[in-house]
Amino acid sequence: MEKLRIGVVGAGNIARHGHLPAYKQCSNCVPVAVCDLDLDRAKQLAADFGIEEVYSSVEEMLEKANIDAVDICTWNNAHAPVLIAAANAGKHVMCEKPLAMNLSDALLMEKAVKDNDIIFFLAVPSRFGYENMYARDLLERGELGEVYYAKTSNIRRRGTPTGWFTDKKTSGGGPVIDIGIHRIDAAWYLMGNPKPVRVSANVFNKIGDYQTKGVGRWQGTPCPDNKFDCEDSGAGSIHFENGAVMLFEASWAINAPEKSETLICGTKAGLSLEPLTVYGERNEYLSTDKITVNPANDKFKLEIEHFADCVLNGIKETKYPIEQAVDMQRMLQAIYDSAEQGKEIVLGE
Ligand SMILES: NC(=O)c1ccc[n+]([C@@H]2O[C@H](COP(=O)([O-])OP(=O)(O)OC[C@H]3O[C@@H](n4cnc5c(N)ncnc54)[C@H](O)[C@@H]3O)[C@@H](O)[C@H]2O)c1
Repeated sequence: MEKLRIGVVGAGNIARHGHLPAYKQCSNCVPVAVCDLDLDRAKQLAADFGIEEVYSSVEEMLEKANIDAVDICTWNNAHAPVLIAAANAGKHVMCEKPLAMNLSDALLMEKAVKDNDIIFFLAVPSRFGYENMYARDLLERGELGEVYYAKTSNIRRRGTPTGWFTDKKTSGGGPVIDIGIHRIDAAWYLMGNPKPVRVSANVFNKIGDYQTKGVGRWQGTPCPDNKFDCEDSGAGSIHFENGAVMLFEASWAINAPEKSETLICGTKAGLSLEPLTVYGERNEYLSTDKITVNPANDKFKLEIEHFADCVLNGIKETKYPIEQAVDMQRMLQAIYDSAEQGKEIVLGE
């Protein structure tokens, strides 16, 4: 079987602990080149995973490596320039979340994808979790009825990542764009990806730069001035064209219990993802069905194989196409704009 040849850009944590181990399990693609601004980091990752070609610039990799596609695992501020360079070189692109730092970059990325007619996929692994697949299937079979309300939380009590994550010019924002996106996306996907029309939100920067002992942190690469100029928590509401509403909250640090919650309410049934439970009626009585799935399915393997399958078979409509990625960025941008301006943001105005 022909295998898709991929160049991985960004040799940090998500490449080392998420994507590269998953590639070993993939049957339809192979990483053949690694690129990082830090050449030693790229060399070490390549050596550890048996990859021969190593580069310190995307331009050089695109010129010299025999690749069909690029897997973007860099800091958020590099997603746009790397995608645009790759698309202009005719390479297909899988990009880590979030798509971009802001909406204007996201729109430039959409243009590059469309102008160059490449296949694009935004890597948000929860769409490949069995819980989400089961729930989306229920939605598509009409078993939830009309979904009109969702509530979603990604609350860390103390869990601010280190390094570039807290520096807005590199990350684009704090927990909303970093981990809120996972749960906002899960809820939005299970609502059927309705079009967002209005957003109202608040963000705070109060206790995220804590000195608390005995807590772990995701270790981002240090950035030169180590700023903490983004939010440490945020919450708000997103209204959709079909009348549905989503409430969300996200934090890296807040004095509240840890929580990961996604609740979807429809006219026929509702469901919770954590744990996977369907709330309905049966024989005119209330029913509460706990569904058993393997919670440990390899989401990174499934998402990478999905992307490779789309490219190898010329399938343009990936499971996270560019139009949806831009709509997600519209929501994230409107959350920050609403918080900054202290008012509701009407999208498209
Ligand atoms: N899907 C998930 O669950 C998940 C989890 C963590 C991080 N992420 C995402 O993965 C991305 C990377 O995060 P990380 O934790 O691996 O960060 P990291 O700091 O560990 O690694 C990022 C690497 O990108 C390199 N880089 C930056 N700009 C570059 C450029 N222009 N060209 C080449 N290399 C460049 C840096 O030198 C660094 O080695 C982020 O977008 C983050 O949001 C996703």
